[in-house]
Amino acid sequence: MPSAPETRSREQWATRTGFILATLGSAIGLGNIWRFSYVAGENGGGAFLIAYCGALVLIGLPLLLAELALGRRAQGDVVQTFADAGPRNPLGIYGYVAVVGAGLILSYYSVVAGWVLRYFFEYLFALFGAPTGADPAGQFVSFIGDPWQPLAWHFVFLVGTFAIVAGGVRRGIEKLNRLLLPLLGLMVIGLVARGMTLPGGMDGARFLLAPDWRMLGEPSVYLAALGQAFFSIGLGMGVLVTYGSYLGRAHRLPTAALAIVAGDAAFAICAGLAIFPAVFAFGLVPEQGPLLAFITLPHVFATMPGGALTGLVFFALLFGAALTSAISLLEVPVAYVTRRFGLSRLRAATTIALLIFALGVPSSLGFGPLAHIEILGRGILDAVDQSVSSVALPLGGLVVAIMVGWVLPGDSAAEAADLKGGYLSPIWLGLLRYIVPLLILAILLSNIGLI
Ligand code: TRP
Repeated sequence: MPSAPETRSREQWATRTGFILATLGSAIGLGNIWRFSYVAGENGGGAFLIAYCGALVLIGLPLLLAELALGRRAQGDVVQTFADAGPRNPLGIYGYVAVVGAGLILSYYSVVAGWVLRYFFEYLFALFGAPTGADPAGQFVSFIGDPWQPLAWHFVFLVGTFAIVAGGVRRGIEKLNRLLLPLLGLMVIGLVARGMTLPGGMDGARFLLAPDWRMLGEPSVYLAALGQAFFSIGLGMGVLVTYGSYLGRAHRLPTAALAIVAGDAAFAICAGLAIFPAVFAFGLVPEQGPLLAFITLPHVFATMPGGALTGLVFFALLFGAALTSAISLLEVPVAYVTRRFGLSRLRAATTIALLIFALGVPSSLGFGPLAHIEILGRGILDAVDQSVSSVALPLGGLVVAIMVGWVLPGDSAAEAADLKGGYLSPIWLGLLRYIVPLLILAILLSNIGLI
């Protein structure tokens, strides 16, 4: 039930910096550290980086601007925003898909963030002399294999996420991001310095940066790059539409979008430059899949001088980054439910956080009691992550591109993005209308073997 934009009274970001930090906080997350490092490792290091940068510039940036512009223009939650496409337009359904999809992402995101939280406390106690395990692999496997412990941490993480979102846009989300983002920046810089000064650390940098050209012939590398770009910027699930809707007209979007994409990519590369050198310096192999952060690195921390402190900083960084992203995912359904059902923010956030907890249970148990379940050859969490990031997010991006590129009149779209009259406007619209949809479709189809 869309109502006229001027009759909606909405919370707004207090400052432009607050908005940029919140959006950066949403972008910078487990995706930049945990996910980026193993996806890059599995897909040819530097070669992957080239495909990744291409995906960021040609697809990520135009779509980020489109999502923010759409949200700010509609001043509503994602369901409302897409309902504005018109009563009979099928794109309207996408609003609901985004609400459910954001919740689904958070459901497994929070499971991994729960693991992070557990390790954070382990290294914290290690500083006070508690022994850290001598066998990181065995320890991690027995931890995630346990039915209860990971569920408890998943719950604790969601309670933290809930508490921030319940605090509101300004007092919760914006405040936390203003506090945490500068700290995250400092921590990652400290870790890069530590990694690069390890003996043999340059091999790691070389692994991340030197391209293996043969990998560029593999279609799967492009799908991985596309999925990673979507996941890392946080596109395709209405997060940026929702954050954009708390912006007033006075803010200019294109520079903000550029700053966000650049900051997000820089952060991922820094995380890679912190992680790979450490892995190489200790003679380990980087292609460890999703377990890189939880097995390989604890191994490194156990051997290196000052490892407990480095481990603490690493897991503090992961935790902070995960929290600022998780709140953005929770905000999507919360914004919808408060408006649609007239619930208070507190009630909406409580209900949805509980639902998301339940939704995450199979992903968590997938390493223990449900370990025998395989979907397309992957465990539950991995299968949900892959299908979301490689299929649902790109399809979401396709819908956004169609909505902004084709459904909105070109003038209104350019105006919504603060590009009207400028030379960038035809470039942006051209990308959204042709390049983004074609590339997304081509990559999706080639990976199911259709082209
Ligand atoms: N971008 C975050 C990360 O890199 C995760 C995230 C936040 C996300 N919002 C999103 C992923 C929306 C997909 C869609 O960890």
